[in-house]
Amino acid sequence: MRRLVYFVVGRLTPGGRRRVLALAACLLCWFACAARADEPAPLRLCADPDNLPFSSANQATPGFYIELGQEIAQALGRRFQAVWVPTYYTKRQIRKKLLTGQCDGFVGVPDTPEFMGPRLIFSQPVARLGYALVAPPAMHLTSVDGLHGHRVAVQWGSPPQSRLATWNDVQLVTAMSPEEAMQDLVDGKADAAFIWGASARWVDISKLHHAYQVVPVEGPHMRWEAAIGFPRNQVALRDAVNQALDRLQPAVKALSVRYGLVASAPEQAGTSPGAEEVMAEPTASAADVAEGRQIFNTTCAHCHGHDAVQGEQRRNLRLLRTRYGDKMAETFFYTVTHGRVSKGMPNWRDVFTDEDFHKILAFLTTIQDKPPATASNDAGGPSQ
Ligand code: HEC
Repeated sequence: MRRLVYFVVGRLTPGGRRRVLALAACLLCWFACAARADEPAPLRLCADPDNLPFSSANQATPGFYIELGQEIAQALGRRFQAVWVPTYYTKRQIRKKLLTGQCDGFVGVPDTPEFMGPRLIFSQPVARLGYALVAPPAMHLTSVDGLHGHRVAVQWGSPPQSRLATWNDVQLVTAMSPEEAMQDLVDGKADAAFIWGASARWVDISKLHHAYQVVPVEGPHMRWEAAIGFPRNQVALRDAVNQALDRLQPAVKALSVRYGLVASAPEQAGTSPGAEEVMAEPTASAADVAEGRQIFNTTCAHCHGHDAVQGEQRRNLRLLRTRYGDKMAETFFYTVTHGRVSKGMPNWRDVFTDEDFHKILAFLTTIQDKPPATASNDAGGPSQ
């Protein structure tokens, strides 16, 4: 942004430049004064501008931490402001920015007392992160032992690299980043990868159409919880954020599946809902419906409309009952676990658990249009 401003301003004549700068100064002052007059101070969170799935300056996919920050700010009745800092040297940035008051909180710090000791206090955990095994589903890789005899991509200097260093029958392919390791997989330079799970899943979701299985690995040095860090004198803010997080649990869950942070449903062959399960009537409580709606409005709404209200017939999910009658549940499960990728409907199989799908369906069931007396398929119906 700053570069853009320099670029534009640099192109003007000196007089024009002065006018633009004066105008910008006025606008800034106006914003600042307006903000001071009738709004509480924004909630400023430090985050990395280029670290998807966690945070990004790209507004199309701002990332888990940023969307979480926006939800929290909204719950606290404040505006949200990202303060961009690269996080290669997180501790240094925390000292330079957070502990000097340039931001109010730092998202995604490891929630352990060893991390910057008494200077920081933490929110409740917002994500559980760690390393994961990545392989094509056909490899049926379910545990670290399954890596024997294979070429395995690992991040340089990472715990998985040390863990496999003494295995004689494994050929390590070292990569500088999880993204690079995923590319090694795609290029056939490695059979599997043992890398940072959230990044692997994000690449798989956003670029590779769920081509790979991502299996989280438990154990020492493999997983930890990430929280929001605050300077230790900010107890009141920390407590308010924790209360907001309690209320935001469904949104946090939906965000973490959307950005691939949480483990997917079991991915072994045969665990996608079988016919019996599909036909079973979901036992939907009001809480399930509410949670289903929350997931729907966070993940599905940008194509299907908020509360499934939007104009395009073939995507109208209020017509599922009209279209499919008692095959509604079956069609729903088939579609969400297979997608209609060529028509723009993604496959959500590895993104949500069966439980989540039941909740989404429970919500959709409550908002179906009344089927017309003469049940005829509507003209815009899908052509599967
Ligand atoms: C990127 C856009 C996009 C997103 C996000 C999306 N869908 Fe879809 N979905 C579509 C499109 C497009 C179709 C229509 C495909 C066709 O023409 O058959 C569709 C069709 C469907 C259908 C079948 C409708 C019918 O009448 O046959 C279901 C069910 C469905 N989506 C559920 C979901 C759920 C649940 C989510 C969220 C987890 C979701 N979709 C997210 C684009 C999307």
